[in-house]
Amino acid sequence: MSTFLWSADEDLPDVVKFFTYSIDKDKELFYYDILGGIAHTLALYKGGIISQDETRAIIGGLYKLKDRKDIDFSKYEDIHTAVEVELTNLIGEPAKKLHTARSRNDQVALDERLYIRDKLKDYLILIRDIIKAFLDLATISLDIVVPGFTHLQPAQPILISHHLLAYVEMLKRDFSRFCSLYPRLNECPLGSGALAGLDFPYDRFLVSELLRFNNPTSNSMDTVSDRDYLMEYIFNMLILSTHMSRFGEEIVIWSNPLFGFVRISPGYTTGSSMMPQKRNPDIAELIRGSVGEYLGYLDTLVVMMKGLALTYNRDLQMDKKVIFDASHSFLILLKVFKGLLENVEFDRERIKENLKDEFLLATDLADFLVNRGIPFRSAHHIVRNVVFYCQEHNKSFSQLSKDEWERFHEEFLALPDNFFSFENSVNRRDTYGGTARNQVEYQILLNRKWLEESQSQVEMVASVSIEELVSGIKF
Ligand code: ARG
Repeated sequence: MSTFLWSADEDLPDVVKFFTYSIDKDKELFYYDILGGIAHTLALYKGGIISQDETRAIIGGLYKLKDRKDIDFSKYEDIHTAVEVELTNLIGEPAKKLHTARSRNDQVALDERLYIRDKLKDYLILIRDIIKAFLDLATISLDIVVPGFTHLQPAQPILISHHLLAYVEMLKRDFSRFCSLYPRLNECPLGSGALAGLDFPYDRFLVSELLRFNNPTSNSMDTVSDRDYLMEYIFNMLILSTHMSRFGEEIVIWSNPLFGFVRISPGYTTGSSMMPQKRNPDIAELIRGSVGEYLGYLDTLVVMMKGLALTYNRDLQMDKKVIFDASHSFLILLKVFKGLLENVEFDRERIKENLKDEFLLATDLADFLVNRGIPFRSAHHIVRNVVFYCQEHNKSFSQLSKDEWERFHEEFLALPDNFFSFENSVNRRDTYGGTARNQVEYQILLNRKWLEESQSQVEMVASVSIEELVSGIKF
């Protein structure tokens, strides 16, 4: 049999075929096209549109087709054509009824939604795993105090666990963004036809239920031309990748021997082709670099959608390369990120040895004066003079004599002995969400609860396999 569904396309010049065919990309939808085809066939049967025998033949054929590994896809225009022609080769006449009450426009919209729904579930699971890895690292690192930065300049002492928990917050937002996409994604396009709906007794609610969608889509014209959920999908990846890139950058900085905060296990660093002594943080660097990829994907989709007159236009085919490439890269990104996180170890000794900069406590000093009645602006000015003085005389705060302190302000004479302890400074930041140890411990606790509760959101994402769908069929 011809590889064309209609003979008019047989004469297209090769260059035009090459330009218009999407099969090299959308063959990835093979499984979902069959899954959707089976549900559609059932709806045709329930509507009395095809007979029981035809239904059996089509579903039996599609079921067999799903395991065929020898199909030469390259000769087909797209996956929808491939499945229909291959089915016809397999079962003959009844296959010609499969495309009743269906257009490739609602078909591709369906396949993509089914595909993305499964990916969404994979991502939610992995994002939770990464959050857990952050929490585990934060839990075993509660004793580690490091300088916190603004402008990458030493600012105030913080717990490294507090720093790690910042990423937990980012990732929880990412998780919730993917979850909130779900209801918009999980609507069933089948039954929209090419654009206007169907002139058959086709139960859209039934087919929606069979494929575990929440409901059928509400406007056939919107349905065949909507790709909002794909833009959201990529946008969510993009934001998450920015979070990962920030951590990637921090790992690059922290693993530099001049910093020496972390050691990365050999599996997550690479050697240099020339300098035998080196281990490079390439994995963290590639994580940092991945943002551009997602921005590029989003750019392609947004430009594709802009100004498209309703309804389906062939431009929409250009979403395939984007969503498959993005989905593959993103899965690897999440897996590698998780691996990296499980392969970094803080160098406690080195961190402790290097935590000497008492100027990190300058704000504490100003706050000390404030607590003794001095307005903050004046306190800031006084402490700034103390810092200048120390820098000029090459001294740290704790090396100043009582006389020297008194010259700046008599209230300084009341400074307690342990005032210049970094741990004490950390523990003074005892507001909700602050870096004090008990606050950080509390957030770890809340986040562990979040982990338990969020499990149900992963389970909420529906999925149905061909096996499940077929085994539920009763004639
Ligand atoms: N390959 C097409 C796509 O991805 C399938 C839909 C084709 N529809 C059409 N009317 N030509 O968008």
